[in-house]
Amino acid sequence: MINSSSTVSLKIAFGCDHAGYPLHIHLIGLAASHGYTPIDCGTFDQSSVDYPDYALKVVETVKAGEANYGVLICGTGIGMSIAANRHPGIRAAHCSTEYEATVARQHNKANILCLGARVIGIGVAGTCLMAFLKSDFLGGRHQTRLNKIDLP
Ligand code: RB5
Repeated sequence: MINSSSTVSLKIAFGCDHAGYPLHIHLIGLAASHGYTPIDCGTFDQSSVDYPDYALKVVETVKAGEANYGVLICGTGIGMSIAANRHPGIRAAHCSTEYEATVARQHNKANILCLGARVIGIGVAGTCLMAFLKSDFLGGRHQTRLNKIDLP
């Protein structure tokens, strides 16, 4: 996986299910307008699909180093976070507030942001995304704690 604290040129893999599709399209546009490079991992319309399939696409893109971070959107954000967190090296944070999205990076070194399109509006979702992308891991005691999660 790759890391970068640069605010531009970061690659962000976006994935969603049918419930998350409209917000997914909005956030891809928002990220692009701020200079990030979105990678659209689907889904590509509002036909019913299974969220684990798209969680896996984003996880694989992040783990391959093809994206710095991932964003996963379903109805609640819960299914996506459960699916993504099954994978070693993935720290997926389900966030509904700017504070959570900021601290998910600063304390938890989250590499995937999960959002619930049926829970938060596009304004809050956009604020969460930008907070996530602009925040950096603080290390120190937080790394000590992560070491107890990511076992060898
Ligand atoms: C789809 O109806 C819904 O179950 C899904 O988007 C998500 O909320 C699951 O966690």
